[in-house]
Amino acid sequence: MADGFSLSDALSGSGKPNPQGWPGSWGNQPAGAGGYPGAAYPGAYPGQAPPGPYPGQGPPGAYPGQGPPGAYPGQGPPGAYPGPTAPAYPGPTAPSAYPGPGAYPPPAQPSAPGAYPAAGPYGIPSGPLNVPYDLPFPGGIRPRMLITILGTVKPNANRLALDFKRGNDVAFHFNPRFNEDNRRVIVCNSKLNNNWGKEERQMVFPFESGKPFKIQVLVEPDHFKVAVNDAHLLQYNHRVKNFGEISTLGISGDITLTSASHTMI
Ligand code: GAL
Repeated sequence: MADGFSLSDALSGSGKPNPQGWPGSWGNQPAGAGGYPGAAYPGAYPGQAPPGPYPGQGPPGAYPGQGPPGAYPGQGPPGAYPGPTAPAYPGPTAPSAYPGPGAYPPPAQPSAPGAYPAAGPYGIPSGPLNVPYDLPFPGGIRPRMLITILGTVKPNANRLALDFKRGNDVAFHFNPRFNEDNRRVIVCNSKLNNNWGKEERQMVFPFESGKPFKIQVLVEPDHFKVAVNDAHLLQYNHRVKNFGEISTLGISGDITLTSASHTMI
């Protein structure tokens, strides 16, 4: 069972064994470069929410800005989805691509006009969204912003990339490569004035061709923190500090994109 989640735990750390400070259910930690504890996915469907509290899924009242009970007719338990900004989604539970009602918090903000079916039966975007896709951040990014990307890696994928952009600069490039000299590696970097900087490489590789994934990027004061399928993956120290000017997330590569959204936690 996952630890109980509370916002104060998530933001301040509470003495729980979660040095990365992810909210409760994101506390799985990779063993480190090259290693990944088998227990991290005990038969779980990637991206499947563990039982118990989850961002946007917790008990009523657990999250500020949470919608009132019954805000989403026909959907999961009262208060399962956060946010007064969330549009009212008619209809029952999520489609089978992402099992479990409430397995994913739906976006607090639609990722694009038309991302939600006008009268669709489901509580999450119908997708897929066109890739490459640009998710705008009006006013830029700021600490406690949580960006969530749901998609499926195409079969025989070569790469995917997230690019947090400040104009032509890339503040944070997150680039899983499925076959770099027959190895799988995640390359992170920044591009300033058209020049790539020093790469930061991560050998822990949670993506699989053909399989769905969830990427969560949490903006923290000193770094971006990335979790994939509910397990912390890496952090990337900010090289571009003008947060207010990082106004777009580009999503590209060999994926189908189901949703891309951001919310504040
Ligand atoms: C380059 C690649 C870019 C970017 C960069 C990161 O080799 O062409 O797309 O991934 O590495 O350092």
